[in-house]
Amino acid sequence: MRYRTLGASGLLVSVVGLGCNNFGTRLDLDRTRGVVDAAIDAGITLLDTADVYGDRGGSETFLGQVLEGRRDKVVLATKWGADMGYGPAAGARGGRAYVRRAVAESLRRLRTDHIDLYQLHTPDPTTPIAETIAAASELVAEGKIRYVGHSNFSGWQLAEAAHTAREIGGVPFVSAQNHWSLLERGAEQEVVPAARHYGLGVLPYFPLANGMLTGKVRRATGVPDGSRLAARPQWVTEQRLDKVERLAEWAEKHDRTLLEIGIGALAAQPGCSSVIAGATSPTQVTANAAAGEWTPTDEELAEIDGILAAG
Ligand SMILES: NC(=O)c1ccc[n+]([C@@H]2O[C@H](COP(=O)([O-])OP(=O)(O)OC[C@H]3O[C@@H](n4cnc5c(N)ncnc54)[C@H](OP(=O)(O)O)[C@@H]3O)[C@@H](O)[C@H]2O)c1
Repeated sequence: MRYRTLGASGLLVSVVGLGCNNFGTRLDLDRTRGVVDAAIDAGITLLDTADVYGDRGGSETFLGQVLEGRRDKVVLATKWGADMGYGPAAGARGGRAYVRRAVAESLRRLRTDHIDLYQLHTPDPTTPIAETIAAASELVAEGKIRYVGHSNFSGWQLAEAAHTAREIGGVPFVSAQNHWSLLERGAEQEVVPAARHYGLGVLPYFPLANGMLTGKVRRATGVPDGSRLAARPQWVTEQRLDKVERLAEWAEKHDRTLLEIGIGALAAQPGCSSVIAGATSPTQVTANAAAGEWTPTDEELAEIDGILAAG
């Protein structure tokens, strides 16, 4: 496993991380433990969850249980700010009162005294970003969180937050988590360049396009029963299948797997810190970690860009 700092921060993360949004919904406690064991064995350190995952709290609760006694083996990233059903008395989700309540509940579920990376799940249109930064800065000073990140921010929101942190002397956001994969490259227009400019590391979500970049979905074979994509047929579009088929052809010619292309070529994009791929089995995590070992040359990356842009 390779390790990198998260943007310009001192937080070191594995180049392949583990997305934890299957825990507490599709995976029970035993299967969650199996996936986390395999991740740690493969050298994965970055575990990405959210308070809302697992039907509000289930993913954090399972992680707290399976990490008991080995909390220091992982870099724990979670999020606040999606609908936890706290109601209006909790306040706006970027506001000081809400942030303090959310972190207390996440720490309790995760059975830890600190969160390594605490991310605002989605922008809060009502709270001034200065208030959110001030609240996060208090949590850093108290040792409850180590770093703060955001998710689903646009380029201008990222820039505004970076300038505001400087103006008020607050802790800067160190990461941006946005939708990004070889099949969905919209983040490269504004968010990724802005993140690089302001020193944030990007954590791409849906990096495997929900499984389309794993090799399990081909035009000839269709979607496997029981897979996530079987429940999300709208994802399997003709346009995405075209790209998958072109990538698979390139992979075969270069003696690579589609999974290596999906993970290795994304990890190699400037600005990408860690590919936080989700998984439903130990075998998948092990394969994902191994795929991150492939480091394409500039020429190979240019060829991949070319075939994705074609058509
Ligand atoms: N910030 C946000 O708003 C946001 C939104 C979405 C996700 N996220 C985060 O990003 C993480 C990654 O996204 P994601 O997990 O939703 O999607 P993803 O990584 O694109 O796809 C993960 C799915 O692909 C399949 N898969 C993974 N590895 C495989 C392998 N080696 N072989 C075959 N199939 C494989 C598994 O589903 P099956 O086995 O069922 O096929 C797995 O659940 C999440 O876990 C979450 O932490 C954040």
